[in-house]
Amino acid sequence: MKHWSYSDRVIAPSLLAADFTRIGEETTRASQSGADWLHLDVMDGHFVDNISFGPAIIQAIDLSHDLFLDVHLMISRPDHYLDRFIQAGSDLITVHAEADHDVSKTLTRIRNAGVKAGLAINPATPLSAAEPYLDQIDLLLVMTVVPGFGGQSFMLETMPKVEQAATWRTERNLAYHIEVDGGIDPETAPIAAAAGANVLVAGSSTFKASDMAAAITSIREA
Ligand code: DX5
Ligand code: ZN
Repeated sequence: MKHWSYSDRVIAPSLLAADFTRIGEETTRASQSGADWLHLDVMDGHFVDNISFGPAIIQAIDLSHDLFLDVHLMISRPDHYLDRFIQAGSDLITVHAEADHDVSKTLTRIRNAGVKAGLAINPATPLSAAEPYLDQIDLLLVMTVVPGFGGQSFMLETMPKVEQAATWRTERNLAYHIEVDGGIDPETAPIAAAAGANVLVAGSSTFKASDMAAAITSIREA
């Protein structure tokens, strides 16, 4: 699979910042601008204070585009909705450690479906909350903003968790991508990458840039 070595820097524009009246064209624009993955923020109005989109939109994108679909479930019951997101064509499904489910069981179900499994932790959640599951995941998402909305400022204080996750990966012979999400732009990308993150989610700084290709290139090379 393309981009599955965590030494590659993966840029994942977040559709949340796209023009929702033109989702198909916006996905094509991301793809043609050099996006490696498309990040899809699913919000239920309960786990976070915002409602975005669900499996029908993801399926429509999957059926019409080739991009790797990085699905970030900010929902209280990922276990209840999981099969629908698998059916929709997700390539990677990330669930939150803070949500109301048996994390280990959910991760097992994701992998058994042939989908990559991710685990996310909020800025206030210690890395120890993810520690028991590190051998069950393909990606660890360290949130760099409080989830719910695009356009927030990067929280530098989350970087020690990224550093620790990278250290544990080496020391314990584990294998997972480290993703950061929230406030990533050409200024903050090198900070996160230096800490050990290799998957960089960027919403506002890519979709809302005047030149999306140039924005993605500068995040990749920063
Ligand atoms: C925040 C979402 C992010 C968001 C990032 O709840 O998980 O993926 O779209 O947006 P920016 O890059 O604008 O901070
Ligand atoms: Zn996200």
